Amino acid sequence: MCGIVGIIGSSPVASNLVDALKRLEYRGYDSAGIATIHDGHLMRRRAKGKLRFLENKLKDEPLEGLIGIGHTRWATHGKPTEVNAHPHVSEGVSVVHNGIIENFKTLRVALEKDGYVFETETDTEVIAHLIASGLKAGQSPEDAVFFTLSQLEGAFALAVIFEGHEDLMIGARRGSPFAIGYGDEDEPGMYVGSDAIALAPFTNRVAYLEDGDFVVLNGTGAKIYDQDRVEVQRKISTSMAQTLVVDKGNHRHFMMKEIHEQPDVISRTLSHYIDLASERVDFSALDLDFKSLPRLTVTACGTAFYAGLVGKYLIEKWGGLPVDVDIASEFRYREPLMAEGGAALFISQSGETADSLASLKYCKAKNQKILSIVNVSESSIARESDEVLPTLAGPEIGVASTKAFTCQLTVLAALAIHIGKSRGVIDEALEVKLVRSLVEVPRLISELLTEEKRIEEISHSLSQARDVLYLGRGTSFPIALEGALKLKEISYIHAEAYAAGELKHGPIALIDENMPVIVVAPEDELFDKTVSNMQEVAARGGKIIFISDAEAERAGCEIVDQIKMPKCHPFVAPLLLAIPVQLLAYYTAVHMGTDVDQPRNLAKSVTVE
Ligand code: AGP
Repeated sequence: MCGIVGIIGSSPVASNLVDALKRLEYRGYDSAGIATIHDGHLMRRRAKGKLRFLENKLKDEPLEGLIGIGHTRWATHGKPTEVNAHPHVSEGVSVVHNGIIENFKTLRVALEKDGYVFETETDTEVIAHLIASGLKAGQSPEDAVFFTLSQLEGAFALAVIFEGHEDLMIGARRGSPFAIGYGDEDEPGMYVGSDAIALAPFTNRVAYLEDGDFVVLNGTGAKIYDQDRVEVQRKISTSMAQTLVVDKGNHRHFMMKEIHEQPDVISRTLSHYIDLASERVDFSALDLDFKSLPRLTVTACGTAFYAGLVGKYLIEKWGGLPVDVDIASEFRYREPLMAEGGAALFISQSGETADSLASLKYCKAKNQKILSIVNVSESSIARESDEVLPTLAGPEIGVASTKAFTCQLTVLAALAIHIGKSRGVIDEALEVKLVRSLVEVPRLISELLTEEKRIEEISHSLSQARDVLYLGRGTSFPIALEGALKLKEISYIHAEAYAAGELKHGPIALIDENMPVIVVAPEDELFDKTVSNMQEVAARGGKIIFISDAEAERAGCEIVDQIKMPKCHPFVAPLLLAIPVQLLAYYTAVHMGTDVDQPRNLAKSVTVE
């Protein structure tokens, strides 16, 4: 996902723009650039690849100016080249943009007919030319931007500066997040960015544009207008981004740091939902009557969707509530029938995933009560929700989600207990038992993490594989799905996961002596069935890596390796089983030499459909 920043400062902005872009690197990108205005002239520097290439260019050709914009680009339209890197310019207008302009081809044809010559393959360039054409027609910068916005279809967060105007920046938001930062007397200035993390070096006083808003800034303040051009106020809150340490500590990658943070952040999340003294769950802040609720619809994407799948198993089995789970990109297009008086739950680490946000709006239109489990309390999904259940994982920088995932599972497990109590299927004794099993999780994960060297050794066999298969049953099936996704997204090795019982319906044809098979099999009520599937694999030469708390001989067949799990209550097994599949993917990727924290082609949050 692209990142945008803008500064109207009281000192030269170029290095601050780059610093802000560095804090957006976690979003994933393939090129970057900045533009400033100095002595009436618009100047620009861009570079393909990581920010260090842009910094090298700025060392050789520095930029002056107290006003500027910057951008990290995750290519959607046009290859990741310097020419396609933002900011884009047209006749003294410079734009940075996060999102997709869906009607850019039509606009481009019309602009080319008007004599505009395009230098890039991007959709963003049409924005610069449209604004320039408005100025040429005698419109003010504000009018030119406002009219341009009315011609755009799709999603955007954009910032614009204008040659000859060194105290004017205009921003706009439709579907992609846009934050405004307010400087203070010590460091006067105004800031814009894709999120509060980018603005943290300069200010913690942050407001967020709503969809349809646009903002006119100068060096001392901002005027915000809604889509009808009525001036509006947006709440300035104190962002926590400054207090959150965003560095790798003594770890080689953010991903490994975040894997190791899981005991702490799960504890922190648990303490938000469990009264440790009484060993009871506490959802007193949640205004929703689960007793009479007919159905819960869960939608999410990627890892968050797998968390939703685990949630379905837990909430139906322990909470006695029917749950539908769907991937957000499919959900709204199948026009699902929503239960009257139902509720919809959105799970999202970033709280900015376009498909999840669009599904939320679909459910809102169907009069569903909107709940969300998010890791960014200031995010769009959080702001659109009736009830927010935060994961307290702290900023998750690695593109591959780890601690946010296990914190999502933590919230879902605690919620399942609350729902079960509300619906009279969990009594006090069972509540205490399940709560105790949850409270055990951080310690058990800490124990597991001491095994990581063993898991690193096992991962070496995976790094030789062309394909890897993951199998699981029950709540271990979504964990198998998550394990396959982790491996794919950071090591680039093809992997897929199946419900173990599905193997004989086709996938078993894949099995041969070259196929590593990761079997996620806690010793629960489904264990014996999974073992028989595993034996079918072994009989065909499959190389089995057994992830289980059972003794190896209980596999009843030849296994290449076992990752021995600690004993735990089946209710919390998914939280523990996530750890070995995360570590297997991590060490395989390290062995492959890939960019673990920012894998190719990926963004941390996908704010485009
Ligand atoms: C997970 O490792 C991936 N980075 C990706 O699948 C991610 O979970 C998905 O894009 C959803 O993101 P969200 O949780 O921020 O909505």
